[in-house]
This record gives sequence, structure tokens and C-alpha cells, in this order.
Amino acid sequence: MIMSLLQSPHVLIFPFPVQGHINSMLKLAELLIHAGLQVTFLNSDQIHKRLLFCTNILTYFSQYPGFYFDTIPDGLPPDHPRTGDRVSELFNAINAVIKPRFREKLLTSTCQFHHGKPPITCIIADGIMSFTVDVAKEFRIPTILFRTISASCFWAFFCVPKLIEDGKLPLNGASEMDGYLSNVPGLESFRIRDLPSFCRTKNLSDPSLQVVVYETQRTLGAYGLLLNTFEDLEEPALINIRTHIPNLYTVGPLHAHLKSRLSSSSQQQPSSSSSLWEEDRSCITWLDSQPLRSVVYVSFGSMTVLTKDQLIEFWFGLVNSQRPFLWVIRPNSVNTESDIPVELLEATKKRGYMVGWAPQEEVLSHPAIGGFLTHSGWNSTLECLYEGVPMICWPFYADQQVNSRLVGEIWKVGLDMKDTCDRVIVEKRIKEVMEVRKGEFLKSAQRMAKLATRSVETAGSSYGNLDRLIKDIKLMSL
Ligand code: UDX
Repeated sequence: MIMSLLQSPHVLIFPFPVQGHINSMLKLAELLIHAGLQVTFLNSDQIHKRLLFCTNILTYFSQYPGFYFDTIPDGLPPDHPRTGDRVSELFNAINAVIKPRFREKLLTSTCQFHHGKPPITCIIADGIMSFTVDVAKEFRIPTILFRTISASCFWAFFCVPKLIEDGKLPLNGASEMDGYLSNVPGLESFRIRDLPSFCRTKNLSDPSLQVVVYETQRTLGAYGLLLNTFEDLEEPALINIRTHIPNLYTVGPLHAHLKSRLSSSSQQQPSSSSSLWEEDRSCITWLDSQPLRSVVYVSFGSMTVLTKDQLIEFWFGLVNSQRPFLWVIRPNSVNTESDIPVELLEATKKRGYMVGWAPQEEVLSHPAIGGFLTHSGWNSTLECLYEGVPMICWPFYADQQVNSRLVGEIWKVGLDMKDTCDRVIVEKRIKEVMEVRKGEFLKSAQRMAKLATRSVETAGSSYGNLDRLIKDIKLMSL
């Protein structure tokens, strides 16, 4: 065993330090370990501390002799909220602080057997930290970039320079938001409104837009691109991406892929939680007492911040829909103290259940769940799709505007409520998905779930692409 470990390739996996990126990259890490590779997972200090506090992650991963955690500072003070509205500060700090520290890390990690670990032979870095490609080149280590967004969103970012050239961007006014992108291959069914939120600016030098466009173009300099999606799900975007980036590995949905490979190996253990908040499992007991497919699950992910008005509108919409609901209200996810009307509190006691953080994959697989009111984060979208649950989408920012369009218009597994947050619409959309058009949405959701399952089974596209990735990583270390 020791001899074979010494000879096996050693991959450094380096996620952008936020929940949605860690989840999928940790699943990938575990898949690689299963294939006999060695993996160092590089976390920011802050994320690592939180993982240790909220999970039994160290114990879980100690079953794998070739798995190591390492840490690096993210450059922000410990009490910084690192929420979606302040993510640009994290970007800036990373470029200033992490980049030089990453070089120092590689300097030691490329030495023969540093702390008993063999040298790094491949890097899989988050695609929004493309500086890793340049630093790794200095050490002659190939880097594969992993984007945690949908292929369609990646393709939309890739097309931004062309959209600017064609005069589609910047926006001149709200009236242009509903114009179609009919001349953009792969985005024909999208409107300007459905582009990533960063495209809504009137100012092309907007720092968020500049960063995502720059980082996306920089993928061209990497060894390859990894996406958490599958071929049947996003064919038009994937065809177009491949004309620029032929070495593309689609290996998703990663959480399903891991489940599938764990259950087919002798080791049946479930994979570890990577939650940065403590999961409140009492919601599973509450779900056990609810009728089949009756509950609306509500969660706006790990970075969304609601205003008081939005909170109240959603709350009234949910209560007025007369459906039972399970709502995740993350600590610090509402940006003001709210006086909640008594009628909402009373109705919630009767039909609702609220937690600070839920075991989401388990919740979505629970038979009581009938629909998911979601912010359309890519992990949430894939997790829901895999369980065959219809969605009601209220995209908040970044890639989410693209994902909700896929749900509502392309896959037709739910409704896109983009840019509307009013109690009457919320109630109406919930009723449509849970009652009026229930059969129609359920049928397409279950069809997509089958495709997702098939993609990670032995003959599936994601299964084959993961094997190709593993072979390529092995070749790099020869
Ligand atoms: C954002 C982006 O929108 C997303 O598309 C990108 O890939 C990462 O950054 P985020 O707000 O974190 O994402 O949403 P999402 O991608 O859906 O990830 C949230 C993760 O947290 C999911 O894996 C979900 O299962 C988990 N979660 C959420 C819980 O485990 N419990 C909860 O209560 C809520």
C-alpha cells in the first residue's frame, strides 16, 4: 500500500473559498482519491476552521491515506462576512495575498517528499483564480481549471466581448432587457435579462464584469476545463465551448457521481458534509410528518442577502399559498432587523418550519418535498434536478440568472420568477408548480433526473469523462 501510494500521482485541488465552490470541489477530490490518486485540498484558514467546527470532516477523510488538507490565508479579517454583496473584497484580497502565498506553497510542494508527501504533479484550481495557471507554469505543473457554474453561464461569460462588439452590451435602458440573443450560437433562447447579473451594468469597466470576463478568457491558457454538468443537460453550450476549449471534462452532477461510485465500491460509507454552518437535522423529523410531495422547500443558498421587504413578500406568498413549507434562513442572510407581522408568525407555527441550515441533499431527496423555491445556485439546481423535484426560481446574482432560464425555458422543470418579488406572484407561482401544472413539471423533472442518473453510471458520459481525467492525470506524472 505504502509503495503504491508513493508512486501514485498527487493532485492539488484549490477552490475559491466560499461554500458553493468547496462543496463540488471536495466531491471531486473524493472521487479522485477513490481512483487511487493522492489529493491535497487547499482551503483558506477561515474556511478550514469553520469546516472543523461544523463537520466531522477530518475523521471522515482520515479513512483515506492519500488525502491531505492544507491551508492558506485569504487576506481578509476573521469577522468579514464574505457574503455575496461583499465578494469583490474577497477577490481583491485573494489576488493581493493568496497569489504570493500560493507560489511559496508550490515551491515546497514540488520538492521530493515534503512532509512525507510526494511532489504535486497536477493542479485543479478554481477557474476564477486563473493566476494559479501562471504560477504553476513556473514550476512546470499542468493546471486544469474547474468552474463551479453551469456550462451555459461559462459560455455566456465567454461571449461577453462579442456581445460588446455587436452592440448588445452595455445596456442602454431597461427596455432592452427583454431583447433576445438570437444571433449568438448557444444562447438563442436567452434574453439580455437572462445573462449573468454582472452584464446588467451600464459601465463596461465595472470591476465584477471585468473580473469574470477576464478569468473566463484565461481558461484558454490552462491544460483543460472541468465542469460540473453533463452532456445531455447543456449540449448547445458545450458544443460551443469545445470549439475554443477542446479539452473539456464534464463530470457532473458530482454529488451524484460520488454517490454512485461509493455505492458500487465495497465501501458503502456516505460522503462527508462540507457545510460551513451546523446542519439542523430536526427538519428531517418534521418532513417525516408531512404528506407525500406536499412541502415547498425554500433556500437561497450560501451567499444571498435578502432585504426586509423581500423577506416579507416571500413570507406572505408562502403563507398565502396554503402549502406546508420548510425555509432555510441562514444567520446574517437578512440585512435588517425585521418586525414580522403576527399573522405570518401564526401561520408559520401551523404550516411552516424554519432552520438556519439544512442537510440540503437529504431534504431534496425526502418524499415529502414537492417543490423547491431556490435562488438557482448551480449546486442547488443540480441537486434538485437529480432528485426530480420541480423548481420555482428567484435568481439573486451572478450565474443564477442563467440557471433559472435553463430551468424555466430550456428544461421546463419549473418556473423562472426572475426580477419579481411580490407576494401575489410568489403565491401564484407556488400554486402553479405545486397544483395547477404539477403533473407537467413533475414529468419533465423526472425525465431530467433519469438523464442525470444515467450520466454517472458505467456507460454514462460523466463516468467516461472522469475516467479520461484520471488517465490524463496519471500520464502527467510519468
Ligand atoms: C454560488 C453560485 O450561485 C453558484 O452557482 C456557484 O457555483 C457557487 O456560488 P451558492 O449561493 O453557494 O452559490 O449556491 P449553490 O451553488 O446552490 O450552493 C449552495 C450549497 O449549499 C449547495 O450544495 C447546498 O446543498 C448547500 N446547502 C444550502 C446546504 O447544505 N444547506 C442549506 O441549508 C442550504
